[in-house]
Amino acid sequence: MLTLNRIALCQLADLPVGLGRAFEVDGKPIAVFRTRAGKVFAVDGICPHKGGMLADGMLSEESVVCPYHAFKYDAITGECDQQGTCAIETFPVDVTDAGIFVTI
Ligand code: FES
Repeated sequence: MLTLNRIALCQLADLPVGLGRAFEVDGKPIAVFRTRAGKVFAVDGICPHKGGMLADGMLSEESVVCPYHAFKYDAITGECDQQGTCAIETFPVDVTDAGIFVTI
């Protein structure tokens, strides 16, 4: 049976606008991004192309840009803008007064 965990990450103010921050949840690296409007996305921490650390990338509108070769991943669907590159996993995020929670 699949079990989902809702994990507290940090406060909204702890996330830099437009840049990524790395977390490890249950041994899995994830990258978390905050838009200027306060929307938060959580995605796989590792780029499937050649292993770039996506938390070192940046946000372009609602896409995560890998720091290695600038492939873009939709932060909601995980789809890549390059043909032949698989999508990344994305995770639901709750932004509350108590902090930011990700469900994995
Ligand atoms: S490693 Fe991410 S685009 Fe190449």
